[in-house]
Amino acid sequence: MSRTTSYTVDPARLDGMVQEPLFAAVVNEAALQDIATFAIGGYVRDRLIGRPCKDIDFVVEGDGMAFAKAVARRLKAGEVHVFKNFGTAMFMHGDVQVEFVGARKESYRRDSRKPDVQPGTIRDDQERRDFTINALAVSMNAGGLGALVDPFGGILDLDRRIIRTPLDPHITFSDDPLRMMRAIRFTTQLDLTIDEACLASITRNAERLDIISAERIHSELNKIILSHKPSKGFDLLLRTGLLHRFLPEMVELQGAEEKFGIGHKDNFYHTLQVLDNVAENSDDLWLRWGAVLHDIAKPRTKRFDPKAGWTFHGHEDKGARMVPGIFRKLKLPLDDKMKKVKKLVALHLRPIALTKDEVTDSAVRRLLFDAGDDIDDLMILCRADITSKNEKKKKRYLANYDLVIRKLAEVEEKDRVRNFQPPITGEDIMAAFGIPPCKAIGDIKTVIKDAILDGTIPNEREQAWDLMVKEGEKLGLQLTKRPDR
Ligand code: CTP
Repeated sequence: MSRTTSYTVDPARLDGMVQEPLFAAVVNEAALQDIATFAIGGYVRDRLIGRPCKDIDFVVEGDGMAFAKAVARRLKAGEVHVFKNFGTAMFMHGDVQVEFVGARKESYRRDSRKPDVQPGTIRDDQERRDFTINALAVSMNAGGLGALVDPFGGILDLDRRIIRTPLDPHITFSDDPLRMMRAIRFTTQLDLTIDEACLASITRNAERLDIISAERIHSELNKIILSHKPSKGFDLLLRTGLLHRFLPEMVELQGAEEKFGIGHKDNFYHTLQVLDNVAENSDDLWLRWGAVLHDIAKPRTKRFDPKAGWTFHGHEDKGARMVPGIFRKLKLPLDDKMKKVKKLVALHLRPIALTKDEVTDSAVRRLLFDAGDDIDDLMILCRADITSKNEKKKKRYLANYDLVIRKLAEVEEKDRVRNFQPPITGEDIMAAFGIPPCKAIGDIKTVIKDAILDGTIPNEREQAWDLMVKEGEKLGLQLTKRPDR
């Protein structure tokens, strides 16, 4: 599913770069103004490893804004957006976002509210960037045209797959504590190893993440979740103590308690395995969030019963109720996306419950009704939730799921309840009996819905109308309108 993490570093990928139209325009303008200019950061890193990138950043030793306007004119690009606060200017060149900034002496912080805009040299600028692999620059000036400017050994780190800060990590992380999350995010996305001093510094400074906005945190977290193997990132988030700062509910999942020789699995690592399993089958961020949170209420529902052992009764409902609070705290969207996650958590045990008894049409219809369009994602989550080490058991569960999936398809084709629209609406009932809005309408609608889901009547208007009349009569209602079929 998500992009693989394997790559090779090849400096030859920089060959010909300065002849490409966009770079050539920068080179010519730099020559005209006699100003030191460099392509820098993520673009250079991604180009070296052959990863597509639609964001190109340039640093100029001078006025980045005026320079951007001149380059935009050469390229006949559209409007130049100037962010005075950040000292940057940006324009679009086709679908590529091009950004210019003047080299800075102090901390490089593109989203700081109080940026320090002391002019500096390229080296000053590079050393205040987050990681050596992100501080790589390519010269746009005669003399070194097209050459890599790499004072901190970024290309070697990229090749050895190590993430390291150009300066003492304490300085780099105090400049912007979000970089601690970014270290783990890049490590997960590119399958890197965090340099020891860097890892120790994150662990020591984890609390400093508290000054970072929830939006910036969730944006990095979502990138970890969307990685090829998100478990790597979550394991690091837990071990460094960063996870404790913004998702303590998940930290509570760790550990396996034992009583009278009966243990339960470590729900943190189980969750990570489910997440990795889902990642192999879907790139949907919200389905992946469903995996992250599917067992979130297990610690709060955990009981020990001498007969049954460890139980987590109701963790799916309690977990679903926890979802809005977690999303609110992380400033994640509270719209349909949150509702989807909530639904996945609430329903994640239903398919397995189905396989325990005989798989009846009516139970399948109810599941389809409750899951709606999310049924396929729910089934991906449920399959991913089978993490038993016992191969025989695993095979049996998976075979049962296949049976449920077949049944789902059969019932859906027959009864079309996936996006159930009641064949008789509340307006129909009011018009038929000449009554104003009242409780009876809801009661009749529920009887009709249950009859369809139980298979007592087909999902057809005519039969639903007859049932409505019968139910109305029971409530003493008289038909005032002829059936409108
Ligand atoms: N940067 C930094 N500190 C930050 C954010 C960004 O030093 N907190 C620098 C890095 O040099 C980075 C560049 O700004 O390469 C661009 O940042 P950004 O676009 O956020 O990251 P990319 O490295 O381009 O990676 P991605 O596009 O995957 O986010």
